[in-house]
Amino acid sequence: MPSYIVVGGQWGDEGKGSVIAYLALKDRPDLIARGGVGTNAGHSVFINGKKYAVRQLPTGFIQTEARLLVGAGVLVDPGVFFHELEHLRDFDVARRVGIDYRCAIIEGKHRELDSTNSHLHGEIGTTGSGCGPANADRVMRTAKLAKDIKELEPYLTDVASEVNDALDDGKLVLVEGTQGFGLSLYYGTYPYVTSKDTTASAIASDVGIGPTRVDDVIVVFKSFPTRVGAGPFPTEMDEAEAERLGLIEYGTVTGRRRRVGWFDFDFARYSARINGATMLALTMLDKYDKDAFGVTDYDKLPRRARKFVEEIEERVGVPVALIKTGPELEHIIDRRDVI
Ligand code: GTP
Ligand code: IMP
Ligand code: MG
Repeated sequence: MPSYIVVGGQWGDEGKGSVIAYLALKDRPDLIARGGVGTNAGHSVFINGKKYAVRQLPTGFIQTEARLLVGAGVLVDPGVFFHELEHLRDFDVARRVGIDYRCAIIEGKHRELDSTNSHLHGEIGTTGSGCGPANADRVMRTAKLAKDIKELEPYLTDVASEVNDALDDGKLVLVEGTQGFGLSLYYGTYPYVTSKDTTASAIASDVGIGPTRVDDVIVVFKSFPTRVGAGPFPTEMDEAEAERLGLIEYGTVTGRRRRVGWFDFDFARYSARINGATMLALTMLDKYDKDAFGVTDYDKLPRRARKFVEEIEERVGVPVALIKTGPELEHIIDRRDVI
């Protein structure tokens, strides 16, 4: 698969970061390009007992041989960008990162509006990162672009050309999405959504590849979906139940407690369909069945966990190719060669 896209199938925070980090190390893509909205995203990766959180740069940073790119569709907050270059200095990121010169810029006024406006912050429960207001300025055609910011100059590139050149040369390209299907501006639970479409097609457009150049779409689902912020969540469980099941989580960007729910098979089927999923990744299987913790061989999964995976495959209609069974990168079952 010369190009593949990884997207979230629920309301974000499915653990895309840890799936992408695994793929980046295992498959050794030549180029890793990030699509999605902007710094509202938060991905955390657990490497050798240390937690790294990124909001702006690709989560595949862990693969130190790869070129790292931020596509034109993504909003750039220069403060967050430079912070992450420093945060990830052990991974030699500054030398290999490129930002499309057409990325729109998040400014202080956008963050301000996003964290004070009663509709955005109060009713919708935005992350306050300025993404919605910056995208609004982009639509109004008043936003600044990356090429207008002097400090970004050393990092500017034409991401679309780089990605297409890599594909022409038969290189492997990994494309990262952010958020999740339920937060899509078009297909999600409007108005409780983010400021852009989040499906695989949009992510392809964000980095400048046409639909004919995408070989695989991996949609990531969490065994117990979560949602931060307001909006419908039909399978939500109450807080006491979530606590009883050991499912307490807090957001990477906002620190807000995540709402937790039961796996919604019908929703997952719809999400996989609109995303054009060719494979699924399932995370947190150890939260569903604690005896699944750390298992790396499908045949060694406990019966209850395996039944859950089988039910997903049957009711969603797409093979579960990757299964995370714990927080570390190696806590994964990779069945891509047998499906
Ligand atoms: P995305 O936004 O989809 O990238 O997810 P996220 O990074 O926001 O999710 P979160 O902040 O909750 O981070 C995921 C954390 O859970 C990371 O520390 C991962 O190492 C860890 N994790 C990932 N997969 C599993 C899993 O299968 N089991 C357990 N117990 N932890 C996991
Ligand atoms: P915004 O994207 O900051 O405008 O927030 C809009 C909605 O999307 C809010 O409900 C946020 O909580 C949610 N949201 C945005 N980004 C993420 C994410 O990375 N993970 C989970 N929820 C998100
Ligand atoms: Mg997240």
